[in-house]
Amino acid sequence: MKILAIESSCDETAAAVVENGRTVLSNIVASQIDEHRLYGGVVPEIASRRHVESISGVVGEALSAAGCTLYGIDAVAVTYAPGLIGALLVGVSYAKGLSMYTGKPLVPVHHIAGHIAANYITHPELEPPFLCLVVSGGHSHIVWVESYTEYKVIGRTRDDAAGECFDKVARVLGYPYPGGKYIDEAAKKCSKTAFKFPHPKVSGGEFDLSFSGLKTAVINLVHNSRQRGEELSREDVAASFQKTVSDILGEKTEAAAKSLGCKKIVVAGGVSANSGVRAKMKKVSDSLGAELFMPELRYCGDNAAMIGAQGYYDFLAGRRADESLNAVATLSLEDISMKTEDRK
Ligand code: KG4
Ligand code: ZN
Repeated sequence: MKILAIESSCDETAAAVVENGRTVLSNIVASQIDEHRLYGGVVPEIASRRHVESISGVVGEALSAAGCTLYGIDAVAVTYAPGLIGALLVGVSYAKGLSMYTGKPLVPVHHIAGHIAANYITHPELEPPFLCLVVSGGHSHIVWVESYTEYKVIGRTRDDAAGECFDKVARVLGYPYPGGKYIDEAAKKCSKTAFKFPHPKVSGGEFDLSFSGLKTAVINLVHNSRQRGEELSREDVAASFQKTVSDILGEKTEAAAKSLGCKKIVVAGGVSANSGVRAKMKKVSDSLGAELFMPELRYCGDNAAMIGAQGYYDFLAGRRADESLNAVATLSLEDISMKTEDRK
């Protein structure tokens, strides 16, 4: 079964054709990041306008790269939540139009479920249940994935998302937006222990995360040393910061995996591209004797192939939408879970 998938929840206009949820026939991503970088972050109004301009071309390219036409596909999947509302609406409206025109079923896909499903592409043998650390620019969750369509969020950030924290720290260090990958590059070059940053104390919610204290500690260090006219190696700060984030994510995931007795650990979202996070998760899973699954780098960030992968399993579970489908800016994974088994 071939699914044409569309993703426009933030600043990437993306389309892909995916076969049976696992085989990517095409994957086209048009990034707007060069334009948003001028403003130090994504400007929602600009994002919506650029999606409108790009979407026909990107979908056309995805179909031709896959060697098929609109009539050769079996369903249209689209990200409808969560994300920037104006940006989501472009993809949703376009997908609705395609579905009505061709008569093919329309499958609404949750963006975070898509990030998790990126792992089904990279690892054809991966099947739920598993524990997933989801770390992106907008979300940081520890999720129990019971089946392809059932989720239990057992830990979540109380404040900033991990990617957001990377980007804010990168900004104060003078790196371009989005700064996660620049911190990663800098961290490869130098000392990981030059600075000691705090680990958050999160009361209640055993597996909850928090990054605002860490972010403030880095910002204060940089500002204070500037005020004193002291030289600070931004590579050392970047490396120490990345090590702290990786340790926090690793420790929480380890605690959750131990508590659930889980031997399959999955990582997903833009921050899963980070080399420090990947190395830490490898250590954690080795020490637990657990299998580790992480997406190939090209499927870590936003793309439509992951939406096609999840769209397949949503289709099999009977999820469908019609022309009344709307975009939703905020929607928990648990709210779309088709049958949640209470694990904790
Ligand atoms: O999943 P994603 O593409 O978009 C959202 O759904 O939010 O994640 C984007 C986030 C950004 O914050 C970006 O800085 C971060 O992922 N990111 C990284 C790396 N590559 C992307 N963070 C740390 N290290 C990286 N190598
Ligand atoms: Zn994303």
